[in-house]
Amino acid sequence: MQEKTRKNVYTAFVGEAKAYFRLLAYAEKAEEEGVAQAALLFRAIAEAERVHATRHMNLLKDLMVKDTDTNLEASFQREKTISETDYPDFIADAEAEGEKAAAMTFSQARDAETFHMKLYERAMLRLIRDEVKALHVCQVCGYVTDRPIPDKCPICGAPREKFKTVG
Ligand SMILES: [Fe+2]
Ligand SMILES: [Fe+2]
Repeated sequence: MQEKTRKNVYTAFVGEAKAYFRLLAYAEKAEEEGVAQAALLFRAIAEAERVHATRHMNLLKDLMVKDTDTNLEASFQREKTISETDYPDFIADAEAEGEKAAAMTFSQARDAETFHMKLYERAMLRLIRDEVKALHVCQVCGYVTDRPIPDKCPICGAPREKFKTVG
């Protein structure tokens, strides 16, 4: 793909992906306010933006999506960078500005990323090659485990009802 178009497709993908989450938040707000039709509209258009984001990303598939070994390695590296470099900087800034809620969100996310890293690492080492095992995701902090759901999330303390199973 030509350079300008590739950049534009990527920009469009990021914009549509952000719109998806923003519109879901708008839908929640509309529900809170009891504006049911606006909530449905936001949800429907969020779904449409998800379609757009996926469609744009599909054009970049060859650039963004490689074979699974490469994708595991790249995902591992991303988690490493974000948990060792980005989040620590974000946490320091949030603490310096007295932004306690952001500091906590960042630090729990950083802790969760280190577990994501370990899961990727194990998958890369093929320790779980032929095994297909469900994973459980804390809906508060993003902690992920392939062990039985804990009574309390080890990162944020959320109860077991807050876990969502993927599998
Ligand atoms: Fe992660
Ligand atoms: Fe959690």
